[in-house]
Amino acid sequence: MTVHFIGAGPGAADLITLRGRDLIAACPVCLYAGSLVPEALLSHCPEGTKIINTAPLSLDEIMAEIKAAHDAGHDIARLHSGDLSVWSALGEQLRRLRDLAIPYDITPGVPAFAAAAAALGSEFTLPGVAQSLVLTRTSGRASAMPEGETLENFAATGATLAIHLSVHVLDDVVARLTPAYGTDCPVAIVWRASWPDQKIIKSTLGSVIEATEGERGRTALILVGQALGAEDFAESCLYGADYDRRYRPQSADSPWSEWSEGDD
Ligand SMILES: C[S@@+](CC[C@H](N)C(=O)[O-])C[C@H]1O[C@@H](n2cnc3c(N)ncnc32)[C@H](O)[C@@H]1O
Repeated sequence: MTVHFIGAGPGAADLITLRGRDLIAACPVCLYAGSLVPEALLSHCPEGTKIINTAPLSLDEIMAEIKAAHDAGHDIARLHSGDLSVWSALGEQLRRLRDLAIPYDITPGVPAFAAAAAALGSEFTLPGVAQSLVLTRTSGRASAMPEGETLENFAATGATLAIHLSVHVLDDVVARLTPAYGTDCPVAIVWRASWPDQKIIKSTLGSVIEATEGERGRTALILVGQALGAEDFAESCLYGADYDRRYRPQSADSPWSEWSEGDD
């Protein structure tokens, strides 16, 4: 049988892919990371589904549940918040499944940073301002940061930063980023993006501590960079009226003119 890892999205119950929803509806066993996965998604489980909240379980206990379901011939829906490619403990589960020769597949989900961008109405990569987005975090009890992956090193690039799992150490984040980005650099904090109690504070590195007045909560993203709220940026060439491109060749001599409509 198969373990279907499914990205459950950032919180809103309708921010899951159709494939993810259909897999949930097809599995008689569902394991979900209860700290962040919305319980409303469990309404897609068929009647009689064995539903297990893995928040209080160890990895050994989770694998024991998966193995028991597999031995009983059941497919399993395994839900994690956001997308599975970042901070989902996917890697260690897949390694154990490979050791046990239990098949699996992966269905991506909407990550928290994308939900935060939507909530802010922002594009994190603007021409001439920032063309990179760094998804990062600070050291936690469960995971130390590898040497080199410091906020100071990422800040030196000037990229937009999406800092996860760190709102409780906001003061430290601000202190480490200010030398490179400056006190007037825009900051946005988005708590529980896409949940009904979503909250946003927009500020600057110089004033965000005061603006948040000690409010730290738990599930939040810290976004930092000049792209946040910038209005003074160039337009992308891609849609420029005179930009020569495959789908809009500007002349018969255009290197793209051989790509007539319908070629690809
Ligand atoms: C264990 S990580 C999970 C990340 C997830 N796999 C993803 O794709 O976004 C949890 C952290 O992601 C961020 N996060 C997750 N959901 C969020 C949301 N709805 N709004 C804001 N931040 C969120 C917070 O920084 C939280 O501490």
